[in-house]
Amino acid sequence: MSTVVLSLTAAASSAAGESLPVAYPANLWNEMFIIWLVVAVAIYAIVSAPIAWFLLRYRYKPGVNEVGAEEEGGLGLEVLWTVVPLIIVIYLAVQSAVFYVEQRTPPPDSLVVQTQGMMWAWQFTYPNGKVAFAELTVPVGKPVKLELTSMDVIHAFHIPAAKTMEDAVPGRVTHMWFQFNETGEFPAFCREYCGTAHAYMLATIKVVSEEEFATYVES
Ligand code: CUA
Repeated sequence: MSTVVLSLTAAASSAAGESLPVAYPANLWNEMFIIWLVVAVAIYAIVSAPIAWFLLRYRYKPGVNEVGAEEEGGLGLEVLWTVVPLIIVIYLAVQSAVFYVEQRTPPPDSLVVQTQGMMWAWQFTYPNGKVAFAELTVPVGKPVKLELTSMDVIHAFHIPAAKTMEDAVPGRVTHMWFQFNETGEFPAFCREYCGTAHAYMLATIKVVSEEEFATYVES
């Protein structure tokens, strides 16, 4: 089932002429947007086109069609308009579940960075103990898993370029993962109102080459 979903979604994204997005999981949400848009527009057209046609074709004409004929249901039609939407809804549910599980499951080779929110800064701790504030340096083309927590109130780490975010909650560890496909600097924001300086609780994701990252993390 998930193979069908993935091949359908691949077809949808290539139909959209989509280029490689700057970061994962942005590509998932872009594909999902196209799929739901296509389904929604198709349903809208299937419903509204007959409505328009019936309005014109069977409109009231004095002396011609004063009273409509009584119709006693139609089993074929009722089965059709029950089964077809059911299949569509099941497809959308499975497709959403596949995407959801995928973007909640970091690959085992992810770089794990402990990420702590506090009023009002972000602190990043690398596996070797190196600590950085407000700047998260990651290697390009490698999955990164953030293990998030908070020192005080609820914050949320949001990376618009990757179209992903997760809450940082005091007393528990949450996680998110992403992967950048090109180098550069990308903004990250606190996405949960956390007090006076919430708007200034920013971070920069610095995406660098593997070698640059190795040098950085050892410095
Ligand atoms: Cu931290 Cu808003």
